Amino acid sequence: MRGDGIHRVCVIGAGVMGAGIAAQAANGGAQVLLLDRDDIAREALTRLRKSKPAALMHKNLLGQIVPGNVERDLKQAADCDWFVEAIIEDMGIKAALYERLDAVRRPGTPVSSNTSTLTRATLIRDMPASLARDFLITHFFNPPRYMRLVEWVADPDQKFGSLKDFIDRRMGKRIIRCKDSPGFIANRIGTFWLHAAVTEAIKRSIDVETADALLGRPAGVPKTGVFGLLDLVGLDLMPHVLEAMREALAVDDPLLDLGPIPSLVTEMIADGYTGRKGKGGFYRLNNGVKEVRSLIDGSYAPARRPKPKAARGGGLRALINHDSPEGAYARAVVTRTLAYAARCLPEIAERPIDVDAAMRLGYAWKKGPFELNETLGAEKISLPKLPKPALLDSDPWGLADVKAQGAPLASNRSASLWDLGQGVAGLEFHSKLNALDPFSLAMMNKAVTLIPRRGMSALVIANDGTNFSVGANIAMLLVTGKLRLWPLINWILSHGQKTFARLKYAPFPVVGAPSGMALGGGCEVLLHCDALVAHGETYMGLVEAGVGIVPGWGGCKEMLGRLSEMPAIGRGPMPAVLKAFEIIATAQVATSAMEARDLGFLRSDDAIVMNRDRLWLQARDRALDMAPGYQPPKPRTLHLPGSSGRAALLMAIGDFERKGLTTPHDVTVARALARVMTGADTDPTDPVGEDHLLALERQAILSLIRTPQTRARVDHMLRKGKPLRN
Ligand code: NAI
Repeated sequence: MRGDGIHRVCVIGAGVMGAGIAAQAANGGAQVLLLDRDDIAREALTRLRKSKPAALMHKNLLGQIVPGNVERDLKQAADCDWFVEAIIEDMGIKAALYERLDAVRRPGTPVSSNTSTLTRATLIRDMPASLARDFLITHFFNPPRYMRLVEWVADPDQKFGSLKDFIDRRMGKRIIRCKDSPGFIANRIGTFWLHAAVTEAIKRSIDVETADALLGRPAGVPKTGVFGLLDLVGLDLMPHVLEAMREALAVDDPLLDLGPIPSLVTEMIADGYTGRKGKGGFYRLNNGVKEVRSLIDGSYAPARRPKPKAARGGGLRALINHDSPEGAYARAVVTRTLAYAARCLPEIAERPIDVDAAMRLGYAWKKGPFELNETLGAEKISLPKLPKPALLDSDPWGLADVKAQGAPLASNRSASLWDLGQGVAGLEFHSKLNALDPFSLAMMNKAVTLIPRRGMSALVIANDGTNFSVGANIAMLLVTGKLRLWPLINWILSHGQKTFARLKYAPFPVVGAPSGMALGGGCEVLLHCDALVAHGETYMGLVEAGVGIVPGWGGCKEMLGRLSEMPAIGRGPMPAVLKAFEIIATAQVATSAMEARDLGFLRSDDAIVMNRDRLWLQARDRALDMAPGYQPPKPRTLHLPGSSGRAALLMAIGDFERKGLTTPHDVTVARALARVMTGADTDPTDPVGEDHLLALERQAILSLIRTPQTRARVDHMLRKGKPLRN
């Protein structure tokens, strides 16, 4: 018999949201039945397979989703543990569907709607009480894999323990309880903000680009700003949502004071200018040139990328106080939105922090409205008093809680060491993009000496940044390379190698807990950890070839070691060498933690945590499990194929070259890599130690950095943030 919990999910509606929710349920390990019309359900699977960014975390997960026809196959859903409806936003059609679901479901099985505008009270109005008791709203955001918010609308006495657990732990979402009001939290505030920004821009003759420059970065909103965001989600969505809100809201709601959708927008929609999915929107690409639409006459002109003076000062407060039409525009939009959030607060949420979290996770704001409000000083808007919340979901423990308790054990400009409690230390990177530099390395060395001295027993390496680490700071490499300071480069490399080795062979367990990108040196640190507890959304890769070098902090050595221990790779030295060579030469980046496991970046017993909020706790638990009686690993010896293996790799490179798949410098880098991966001139019968491989890594980098092509790649990456294909 199956235990409690959600194992089989029935998603009805295979459109944008239904397909995405089905994929995320599959990512979370469920078997999914996806029902719609036959052709639509089947097409949804094809779309899922091809979607970019991928909706599925691993290609094999597609097999967990079975498409079906809602008329014919509903009875197959009888044993499902959760029904989630994501069909057209039409009360009558939804109600008819619920009746049919009720006829097949086991009593007590939760049924939820993904509606964005209808309230729960409306949806349950004509339902039998037995269904209403099991009915709730679970509002996912688009795209469901990547947006971490689920708005949850249920009665306080409805528990849904298994469903909550599934959405939180398996689908990885932060569940925010919302009160049952139109648009819930995020769309209520978000719609007001977008509508205010558009209407005020038209009224004040602020052009599209200036508005986005003002309301993007300085307000901590993604740089798409307002008009860019509307293009992204589709202009046609706006009248729909706004109309539904206007119908449902009280007559004195300030959203209504903003007036109807401007005719300029409705005309754009009628002409097919619905944004990125249509002929273009407020922005468009015309033969590769980015153009902006005039709010006055609808003509397009090349983008100017203005940097308004009002946005150059320090943050939001300076922006809204800037004495200029731009400052006045920002003030009008920002203060009205914050005042609106304050006014709605008792109606939409139990706590201000829920509103802040909803805007951060649902609209990708850096700070929520009340957090922004705190930065305004004298201009701060006062908040209404709220009754004590009925039900409190405490947020999982993390570094923020540790920081609230006091100072770090040690800190420098790029990294800090924290006491996570129970004898576990936490190493946090906090340089720009968490790039690793001598300060980051210094803090690792400090951890190795400090932890035993303080009687602590384990180390977790993690941080709350968007990206764990984008890799070594390559600016240093470029400067030292240009100045031909070869001994210094050799020292930097060997210092990093020794530091990572000290972590690996430390007398206590080291657990890496990455989320986001872990590239180059950031990936290499993790390869030296005893265990990983990785967020599902971890993107690991040894991307050094992109800047014309090879991994030089033990990455080549560790990949060879790991892959030679993976049963699936095959026996003898050559299969592991080939696989590691391929992964590094083509700079493969895993697009999920599951893919990272296939590539050998994660071991089979490393954990994957779906909910980012739970990463710190699970990593600390893992470290605590490992600490009693911990023995550091023994250094590996490998058998590598030597020059004959290298000849085989060079032939493979030659093949790619002939097919035109490589640039000339790709070939140079691949040749240098082939020398490292095969152990240079070693004999296949002689064991190769770690030091030998580390020396080969250093030699390869020292030879490559002497080439102008590698220096051009590094320089290009630093200036443009993407690889140069020379
Ligand atoms: P969509 O138009 O992409 O897909 C709706 C699907 O439902 C269509 O494939 C249609 O064939 C199917 N359908 C309609 N009636 C059906 C029925 N009786 N039985 C089975 N299938 C039926 O719509 P989308 O955008 O995926 O929206 C679905 C729901 O999610 C709506 O309630 C919407 O308000 C909500 N939502 C939409 C978001 C978005 O960004 N698109 C975000 C959050 C919520």
